[in-house]
Amino acid sequence: MTLNEYQGVRIFNRPVKMLGTALMVYVYLVDGMLVDSGPHRLQQSVGAFCSRWGIDKIVHTHFHEDHTGNTAYLRHQFQIPAYVHPSSLERLQHNGSIPFYRLAYWGKRPGFKADPLPNLIENHSSRFHVIPTPGHTSDHVVFLDKEHGRLFSGDLFVHPKTRIVMSTENIPQVMESLRRILQENFETVYCAHAGVIKNGYHLVKQKLANLEALQDQIFTLQEKGLSRKAINRKLFPETPPITYYSFGEWSSHHLVRSLADNQKET
Ligand SMILES: [Fe+2]
Repeated sequence: MTLNEYQGVRIFNRPVKMLGTALMVYVYLVDGMLVDSGPHRLQQSVGAFCSRWGIDKIVHTHFHEDHTGNTAYLRHQFQIPAYVHPSSLERLQHNGSIPFYRLAYWGKRPGFKADPLPNLIENHSSRFHVIPTPGHTSDHVVFLDKEHGRLFSGDLFVHPKTRIVMSTENIPQVMESLRRILQENFETVYCAHAGVIKNGYHLVKQKLANLEALQDQIFTLQEKGLSRKAINRKLFPETPPITYYSFGEWSSHHLVRSLADNQKET
């Protein structure tokens, strides 16, 4: 069942379709605060969602275009401030330079002016701690409402079993971020692609355990003398379509490489 509201959080969700596949996008509105603005292809419906429920600020989990695609439009439309990690202020002032397949999938990302995210966001009736969780991107943060046990996780979680990642992701860093967040008390995870996860703490823990088990497997196979390419073929024998149409930007190979790289450093 698709939820429209949970724990006082208004939930926007739409599939974005391309080449016979569909990716879900979730945008959340809590106490006037929009968490990520969604991809530009959904501009009209995100705009209508914000008009309907009222919005007084936009905060972003990271700079990717499916999280920042409508911010320029919403800022102009509602005359509201936008906040991003300080390291992305400059980048987001300019129109996004986006690979073709992502442009086709999500749409463009017009530049916008933002303010740096504070450590704590105080709304009318909620407080969110801004916790750095790098790895998916270096500017990634999550928003934690300790009082209500709500975690807005951007792209930190997405799936309990990681099979493919982007070439730019640092997976040992993702694991550190998962460990960091598991030190906190929360129950519900509001994920940008998987939706509202009521047993979120448990699933975040499971994701970390799965990555640790995968890392162990990779180390064992490396010790047996297998190359990264051979390890990838053995652990992930099927290549998903996105690996082809993203020209390799999304691949299980990057997952293996990133975890294997970690061993070299220790
Ligand atoms: Fe992302």
